[in-house]
Amino acid sequence: MEGTKWRVLIVDDEPFFRQLLRQLLHDQYNLSFAASGAMALDAAQHVKPDIILLDIMMPEMDGYETCNKLKVNPATADIPVIFISGLTESAEKVTAFKSGAVDYVCKPFQSDEVISRIETHLKLYNLQRHLEKRVEEEVDKRRREEQMLIQQSKMAAMGEMIGAIAHQWKQPLNTLGLLMQDVEDTFNAGDADAEYLKQYVIQGMGLINLMSHTIDDFQNFLKPSKHKDIFDVTEAFYEVAGLFSNLLKSSTIEVRINTPRTRSINSTGYRNELKQVILNLINNSRDAVNSARKKGIILEEGIISIDIEESADKVVITISDNGGGIDNAVIDNLFDAYVSTKGEGGTGIGLYMSRAIIEGKMNGKISASNIEGGARFTIELPSATPEADI
Ligand SMILES: Nc1ncnc2c1ncn2[C@@H]1O[C@H](COP(=O)(O)OP(=O)(O)OP(=O)(O)O)[C@@H](O)[C@H]1O
Ligand SMILES: [Mg+2]
Repeated sequence: MEGTKWRVLIVDDEPFFRQLLRQLLHDQYNLSFAASGAMALDAAQHVKPDIILLDIMMPEMDGYETCNKLKVNPATADIPVIFISGLTESAEKVTAFKSGAVDYVCKPFQSDEVISRIETHLKLYNLQRHLEKRVEEEVDKRRREEQMLIQQSKMAAMGEMIGAIAHQWKQPLNTLGLLMQDVEDTFNAGDADAEYLKQYVIQGMGLINLMSHTIDDFQNFLKPSKHKDIFDVTEAFYEVAGLFSNLLKSSTIEVRINTPRTRSINSTGYRNELKQVILNLINNSRDAVNSARKKGIILEEGIISIDIEESADKVVITISDNGGGIDNAVIDNLFDAYVSTKGEGGTGIGLYMSRAIIEGKMNGKISASNIEGGARFTIELPSATPEADI
């Protein structure tokens, strides 16, 4: 059982006391000894005791100084120190505690007292270590969960983008197909002259460039912004609406952006991350409109109405839809992770990530409420337009 015994380092310059403590403690503990402060510092590093019993009155380096030195060395700082000393003045005890000791025992000592104090502090120390480990594990776990959420939301965004690209490509691909068929027909009819071929190449290249631009646009879309920057909020909304408007139109949803377009409305922060938030909100509105349609709640066109305004120090954006509003079951914890009413159709991280971006990274605020016929999300961002311009 040697290995499981607590390790106790006994520091005393008098052999008599070292011997006494040995007799008293050797059954229960794994003991090491040091006859001076310097030896104690050395032993503490190498033996890594669970607790140290430290005499105060020693030549050269006394107990206080030894204790101070133990406490400033990260390798030994956590080891609890109990002073064992003939000094009984309360001022001495105060100095002892100030130098970092956890307890104080007076010589001559009662054996049960020494043992029970050692036991108490070993238990406390052990408990503390255990708690620290738990906290560390918990923090670590949170960090991993957070990483996973970020990863999941990136994957979801990628899925959206592929959908949008596929949609944008459909038309030019079809046209390209028709063009190719036309070459064959024209050739068979004997009309494929140089001018025809030239026109054919121009048209074909035009379509290919268009498709290639689509890829570039989407590729830039999700690149994380490297640093905080001043950017035009309105422009970010127009860009997202632009990239996804075809896709939305195909499910008869219109995005309207209302803003005093005469000047830019600036904020500081992460532009591309904000675009992810916009996309999340637009997608949620689209889902709401589509499901309200399925249930026959609305028959008219889906409308996502975005208003961007600026006050003295804030940019206020509202995104309203006519998708029937937020379910009461989720309205109070909408922004928590994994809250979703969409079953297989949603993971419930869209709004969680949106809040992390707006409130955690951009010093803003995001909130939700129901309005007549639908839902409204409000985003506030710090304004970065000089006041004189407003
Ligand atoms: N515009 C809206 N209208 C009605 N309900 C909404 C609207 N936006 C969000 N919700 C509700 O809030 C829930 C959480 O939204 P969130 O974007 O976090 O997750 P999700 O859309 O379900 O899944 P994910 O975004 O991860 O694909 C949704 O499931 C929906 O019930
Ligand atoms: Mg969502």
